[in-house]
Amino acid sequence: MNAPRIAPSILAADFGNLRAEIESVEAAGCGLLHLDVMDGRFVPNITFGPGTVAAIRKTVKMPFDIHLMIEEPENLFPAFLKAEGGVKGSMISVHLEACPHLHRTIEKIHLLSDTLGAGVALNPATPVSMLEDVIGDLDMVLLMTVDPGFGGQSLIESCLEKVEQVRELAARKNTNVLIELDGGVKLSNMEKAAGADILVMGSAIFKNGDATGAAERFKEAQALFEKLHK
Ligand code: DX5
Ligand code: ZN
Repeated sequence: MNAPRIAPSILAADFGNLRAEIESVEAAGCGLLHLDVMDGRFVPNITFGPGTVAAIRKTVKMPFDIHLMIEEPENLFPAFLKAEGGVKGSMISVHLEACPHLHRTIEKIHLLSDTLGAGVALNPATPVSMLEDVIGDLDMVLLMTVDPGFGGQSLIESCLEKVEQVRELAARKNTNVLIELDGGVKLSNMEKAAGADILVMGSAIFKNGDATGAAERFKEAQALFEKLHK
């Protein structure tokens, strides 16, 4: 069984106080930081790019979980790889819906780096069966539990069935992948999401730029996930 981990998403953090917010959750034991990259095309919102990721890496040691909600993600792989800094355990995920040549895109991640894990993200409307022919090349499957683009949305419960579907597909293909859920996860619905290995939490952790509160909320969420994980 993979160790359960909460990955805080900085989308909900105060960008004017970003360093303090991230350092606070890292000091609280956080071992994976979720970074939501949006391009205003694949999703109707824009966040940040490799420059911000490099700035965060200057003081933050933990692995990064880079979630690319962008078109033609392969064009930016080298820049994100450099910004990420080669930390073991870091991952980069592309959206299946943004990649017409998904096999080649995943291959590019593996060719560029020995350390960076490769993930594929599925929107709520995309079935797990689309991973049938690539799951053996993946380190992680990122299941969206909201339509991507914004934090603070409500979890779409029907997406949770996909956790078991990915487990079954992976077992049938004799491979092992991490399963991550992203969107609308909070303490009150964590029990239903507890079959995943990684839970992304944005607005349930970062609130009002309160770095100390974020660390406390991270610790509480991580402890509950460890209790509920199955
Ligand atoms: C949504 C992002 C999520 C987001 C989650 O497109 O991929 O990572 O930050 O935020 P919450 O936890 O607030 O739903
Ligand atoms: Zn995300």
